[in-house]
This record gives sequence, structure tokens and C-alpha cells, in this order.
Amino acid sequence: MAKVYTDSQDELTITNVIKHGLRHPVPKWAVLRLALARSLRIATPPDQVYDRRDSTVGGSEYALKELTGEGKEEAEDQTSLFLALLSAYYRRDLFADGDAFVCLLQRHVRRGLREFRSGWIESHDFHDYLLHELFGDLGGSTVVVSDLRERLLRALAEIGIATEIVDALDGPRMTRFMVRLRDINDHSPLLRGLDKLAFVLGLGEAGVFVSSTTEPKIAALDVPRIPAQWRFVPAASLMAWLSGAPTEWHLPVYLGQDVVGRPIGFDLAAAPHLLIGGTTGSGKSVCLHALILSLLSQMDASRLKLLLIDPKRVELAPYARLPHCVDGVLTDSADALDALNRLVDEMATRENELARVGARDIDEQKAASLNLSRIVVVVEELADLLLQSGAIEEPLVRLVQKARATGIHLVLATQRPDAQTFSGLLRSNVPSRIALTVQKGSESKIIIDETGAEKLLGKGDMLVRLLGQPTVRVHGVMLGSDDIARGVASALRRTG
Ligand SMILES: Nc1ncnc2c1ncn2[C@@H]1O[C@H](COP(=O)(O)OP(=O)(O)O)[C@@H](O)[C@H]1O
Ligand SMILES: [Mg+2]
Repeated sequence: MAKVYTDSQDELTITNVIKHGLRHPVPKWAVLRLALARSLRIATPPDQVYDRRDSTVGGSEYALKELTGEGKEEAEDQTSLFLALLSAYYRRDLFADGDAFVCLLQRHVRRGLREFRSGWIESHDFHDYLLHELFGDLGGSTVVVSDLRERLLRALAEIGIATEIVDALDGPRMTRFMVRLRDINDHSPLLRGLDKLAFVLGLGEAGVFVSSTTEPKIAALDVPRIPAQWRFVPAASLMAWLSGAPTEWHLPVYLGQDVVGRPIGFDLAAAPHLLIGGTTGSGKSVCLHALILSLLSQMDASRLKLLLIDPKRVELAPYARLPHCVDGVLTDSADALDALNRLVDEMATRENELARVGARDIDEQKAASLNLSRIVVVVEELADLLLQSGAIEEPLVRLVQKARATGIHLVLATQRPDAQTFSGLLRSNVPSRIALTVQKGSESKIIIDETGAEKLLGKGDMLVRLLGQPTVRVHGVMLGSDDIARGVASALRRTG
């Protein structure tokens, strides 16, 4: 008989929800139903990672009889309700395909359980959490989204483009409308009309972004919703993403979610250096915290060293006590210069050691015996630092030119993305870039070689352009001082 299978983590979550969340001896399948409801609220379907077909190692199995009431008395058998829900979600007739139904049901149930795991903390009220997750943005948003749909259609007509909306997906802050263009064969008229469109829609500084899709004559239009209808990307999503990051990555770091809510992270080791630019208040520091906390949560001080430089003295202070930060947090430009020069020496030493064992870089098998830790340098405000001491540019340039092979990576943040701060030599050797909101298109160009960042929504909204990859828009994970304190405390606990 058809069954839904869980794993040991799922089982822990179910037990936790019953014990600390619902605080009632409800049957486990009731939690599974809640998990299904949670997952159905996410616009993108869950993927195959949730497919498992056995209940070994701590997992369990649930017969449909329990979960949907299949085969029970008419009043208790709600299988057709479940079938209808999933058929509507996938726009496909699952009544005719029982196997697919059970498979998709399991995916949703397990994704919902993972959401509980990552989004709900035991000390918080589970009912509040559910209320917010299931209904939080419902009342307003359905109204406004349909209103947005109407307004978009009217605005498109007003700028002379005949379209029909074939689909709409809600992401954290924007709604992606799939529009079919009538009468035109490419989306250049749409591209030319974007500014007008933003104006007609009353978006202020923000913009509508367009991309082509793999379907003929269909373009994707990303339209921002009003801020009251945004969903900030929760801190818990960081740990959830990290637990599934590719194991071959050396320094996985999490950024947030893309326009339709898919998690986005990357391997800092492959970056191999990163520039983050954006105006004051755009979310640079929060983004740096996401990177640092990603690294700290996976690597102890024997595998990872951090060189933190913070001329403004405030942002990075919470990390000073960590054993990863051998020099604490440097705030003085003379100390920073000194530390960077020592790092250049360390790079040379490492190059010699690698040559001795016949390895080209730290990733080669031959380098394993050297046991080299990764070193990540984070500069909180590059422009300030360079103003205080121009001499700092020299070791920075030497490091970005050669350090990656020896396991040293740089993350440079600046609120002044101009040619002076980000000079030619730094620029050409820091291939991965993140642009948060900037004032002018020209600043966007300096950071990511294209305009667009001047039309972002602020507060962690970013355009991410990693080495060799197309630009993606990401809504950054929101991390407050509590989250940072918690991350630091658990890193300290792990080092004993
Ligand atoms: N990812 C985010 N989600 C929601 N709000 C954010 C996010 N990033 C930043 N913010 C908001 O913007 C404020 C400024 O962010 P911050 O990182 O200090 O900017 P910057 O370092 O660029 O000056 C934060 O205090 C927070 O209120
Ligand atoms: Mg800052």
C-alpha cells in the first residue's frame, strides 16, 4: 500500500512540534498535514531531495490511511481533498495518477517539516508561527496581487504593448509575472518601455526587471510589491541551506533567496575574491554577517582563520573573541597594514610549502598533508581604509593576484564604489561582485559591469555576479544582532 516516508530529522521535528509546539498528544499524521499546508504556501515546487522509499535509519512510514484517511469511512476519507489540493498546485490531474500523487505528497510533507525545522524556534509560540506562515500575507496579498496584475496589464497597454499574463509567482518581495507578448517576436520593445512601465506603476526609484524565458514569446516580468507585503528572508534559512550545500565546496556561504524564493549561496573558495558595494544602509554589513556566520557555523579555528578589518569599529566587534580571529578585529589602519603585509609573507611561505610537496594549489590531494587552514580576509569599509592609508592597496593587490591558490580569500565591502577605491588592479583581480542598492547607474557599472543596482529595493536587495555566472537578483537573509550573538556563541561552544 502507498506510503509516505520520513527520515530521522523529520521524526525529530514531528516530536518537537507535538511536545513543544502543539503541547497536546496529537497523532503524528496531524503534524504531517500541517507540514503539507506549510509547503503548499511556497510558490516553487519541492524537488527530489525529499524522495525516499524506505524507513531505515531513524525514519518512519505513514500509510495513506493515516495521512489522508484513504479507505476509511466516507466521512473520514479526505483523500480526494488532498488530490484536489495537489492537482491545483501542480495544474495537473493527479486523480488519474496515484503514484505521482503519493510522491508529490511526500515531497511537500517533508519540505514542510524542513520549514518547521528552519523557521520555528522551540521557545516561540508554534501557533503564532503557523498563523503567520500560513495566513500572514494572505488577506492583503491576494487582493493586492490581483490588483497588481490588473495594474500591470493596464500599464503595459498604456505603453503600447499587448500582452496576456499566463502565470504569476510570489517571491519574497516581488511577483514574477509570465507574460505572453502578442504581435512581437522579441522583448526589446518591452525592454525599452521598462522605465515608462515603472513610472506608470508608480514604483519610484525601483524598477521592473525583465528576462526572457525558454518558452516562445514569453517573458518574465519581476514587479516589486509594496513593502508591507514583503517577506524578509529568515535567519533560519541560512542553516537550512548550509545543511544541504554541495560537499565538494570548500567555503559554502549563503546569501538569501532569489526573486521567486529559491535559496542562493555559493562557494567563496571559487569566487575566489569578492567585492560588495552599496550605499549606506543598503545592507552591506548584514550581507557580511551572512558570509561570516556561514563560514563559522561549519569550520572551527583549526580549519578557518579570519582576518577582520573594520575601520568603523562597530560592525565586526562581536567576532573579536573567536579563536578564528587571531588578531581580534583590527580597527586601526596601521595594524591593518601590518597584518596584510604579514599575510603576504604567509602566502609566500605557503607557496614554498606547496611547491615542496609538488602541489599547485591547496585543493590538490598532494597538499592535504600540509593541513593548511583557509584564511578569509573581510574588510568592512575599503574606501575608509584606503583613505586612512593608501599603502594598504599594495598588499591587497598582491593578495588578490595570487592568494587563492594558497587558500586565502578576500571579501571587500565599500559604500564608495568609485574608480579610486576600486582601482584597476583590484578590479581585474576581484572577479566576483555583489551590488546592493546604489545611487547611480554608473556606480552599478563599477561594481557589476552593468546598470540595474540603482533600481533595487534597498535592505539587502542585491545583484550578484559571480565569476563565470550570469547575474542573479537576491533578497538577502535578514540577520539581527541576536542572530549574530547566537552564531558566535555556538561557534565558541563548539571550540570548548
Ligand atoms: N537582508 C535584509 N533584509 C531586511 N532588512 C535588511 C536586510 N539587510 C539590511 N536590512 C536593513 O537595512 C539596515 C541597514 O543595513 P546595513 O547592513 O547596516 O547597511 P550598510 O552596512 O550597507 O550601511 C539594517 O539595519 C536592516 O534594518
Ligand atoms: Mg555597514
